[in-house]
Amino acid sequence: MIILKTEEDIKGMKRACSLAREILNVAESRIQAGTNTQNLNDFCHEYAIKKGASMAPLNYKGFPKSICTSINSVVCHGIPKESDILKEGDIINIDITVILDGYYGDTSKTYPVGKISPEATLLLQRAETAMNIGIKAISPEGYLTDIGKQIESYVRKYNYTVVKEFGGHGIGKSFHEDPYVPHYWIGKRALKLKPGMTFTVEPMINIGKSAITIDKEDGWTVRTKDGSLSAQFEHTVLVTPIGVEILTEDPFVPLKK
Ligand code: MF3
Ligand code: CO
Ligand code: CO
Repeated sequence: MIILKTEEDIKGMKRACSLAREILNVAESRIQAGTNTQNLNDFCHEYAIKKGASMAPLNYKGFPKSICTSINSVVCHGIPKESDILKEGDIINIDITVILDGYYGDTSKTYPVGKISPEATLLLQRAETAMNIGIKAISPEGYLTDIGKQIESYVRKYNYTVVKEFGGHGIGKSFHEDPYVPHYWIGKRALKLKPGMTFTVEPMINIGKSAITIDKEDGWTVRTKDGSLSAQFEHTVLVTPIGVEILTEDPFVPLKK
């Protein structure tokens, strides 16, 4: 069942989403070679608490930490730890989900650590474009499946693949609600979009094959099966009567030169 959000819900979600974005931006400023992902976790956690929010991943279905940190061939759900020390050339996805006054906001981005390879640079650019192309496919006249159709046809040009096992999700007063948002073409048009729907678009794009593994020991860490690099970008969006609004948009305005 898809919950259409009221004006009041949308206000609450906008506050949660802008805090998630703010935390992602401050986390970005702490990324450097030598930093470990536990430090990033603790910094984000404290920041959220100070703002009167909590971190949704902590204890969610047993997830042990407050943010997800996914390095290189880790697709998603990487667990922060002191032994994961960032090094020059890595790429790292930081995924922030906060709960503020009962509402969830969910956003992530993949960042370079120092100077990265040309292949990794292209992957980051194209994975972000893939997310944006998916978001642009959203309209109240359209269908949910338009998103995955556009994303998959864009990344295919580069011989990249889309992860199928994990998708976007409805979000609001719960972390993951209907609808499930496939980032690939499921072979048929389905689910007419309606104003008031809120969900995430968060494609995971691999340089190599799409197959993934889940770590047997921790039960969470998702990796590419072939060890290839993977990148992900995520926004929470609202379907409006005239199109789509990105609720986790970066408010940063570059200075005029
Ligand atoms: N934030 C992730 C998402 O985009 C979900 C993380 S679930 C967790 O849906 F338990 F790993 F935190
Ligand atoms: Co997320
Ligand atoms: Co999400």
